[in-house]
Amino acid sequence: MQQSENERDMTGLQTDRPHPARIYDYWLGGKDNFPPDRAAAEHAIGAAADIPAAARENRAFLRRAVRMCAQAGIRQFVDVGAGLPSPGNVHEAAHVVAPDARVVYVDNDPIVLTHGRALLADNRTTTVLTGDIRELDELFERPELRALVDFDQPVAVLLLAVLHFVGDEEARAAVEHVRSRVAPGSYLLLSHSTHEGSPERAAEVVKTWDNTASGIRLRGRAEVTRYLDGWEIQEPGVDFVPLWRPEGPTEGTTRWMYAGVGRKL
Ligand SMILES: C[S@@+](CC[C@H](N)C(=O)[O-])C[C@H]1O[C@@H](n2cnc3c(N)ncnc32)[C@H](O)[C@@H]1O
Repeated sequence: MQQSENERDMTGLQTDRPHPARIYDYWLGGKDNFPPDRAAAEHAIGAAADIPAAARENRAFLRRAVRMCAQAGIRQFVDVGAGLPSPGNVHEAAHVVAPDARVVYVDNDPIVLTHGRALLADNRTTTVLTGDIRELDELFERPELRALVDFDQPVAVLLLAVLHFVGDEEARAAVEHVRSRVAPGSYLLLSHSTHEGSPERAAEVVKTWDNTASGIRLRGRAEVTRYLDGWEIQEPGVDFVPLWRPEGPTEGTTRWMYAGVGRKL
């Protein structure tokens, strides 16, 4: 066991410290996490028992919003900060509506590439790349991405539960780069952690990411809404994740994340 974890460390996975992708994987009931990830994830649960439910509700939002885009005719998706594979991935949600939809998954954690390859072994419409939301200009020109994405056609760009891992300037630069690069009719899908639903518990929850490389920045509804400046914000606007077009009582009740979708005119 010790040897295999050392081997993994040689691939850059840094199993001796928590990583956001693996903390989130733990909340979603996944197995791709290590003791420091589990300790951090359990800290959050100790501070707010509904955090795993918030992660599941964020995944349900992903599926609703992707399906909406596919029904609107979108056939190409770029998911930045994609996370580890988990049931109901973007390509699975999109392919229910449009089996020919193409999906590029991007994450800056190498574990996502390692595990994503297995997921995609026989899927010619989908690929996984290592890349950073702070370098979208370089990422969007990469041949592997351009093999599946034509920026002259509408595209849906997903920045779900990832902008809170970068600073204010970096987050704004990322959304502005997307807006300037994509064709009219494209969509920007956002979700973002917030303190506004449970301000009294937020400070303790934030400590979950203290030992990660990025930390986390909780932001308010007004700030998240500004990320959609210049986009036609889709109904119901920026709201808590389970309130974004719920399809039934199963959408849940957590108040840890905002969701919003914009369409480029
Ligand atoms: C909480 S997970 C969200 C996964 C998925 N987007 C979802 O909403 O279900 C955040 C992901 O963002 C990735 N991430 C963090 N900082 C990033 C960055 N600067 N560039 C790209 N990905 C990043 C993490 O590795 C992690 O996999």
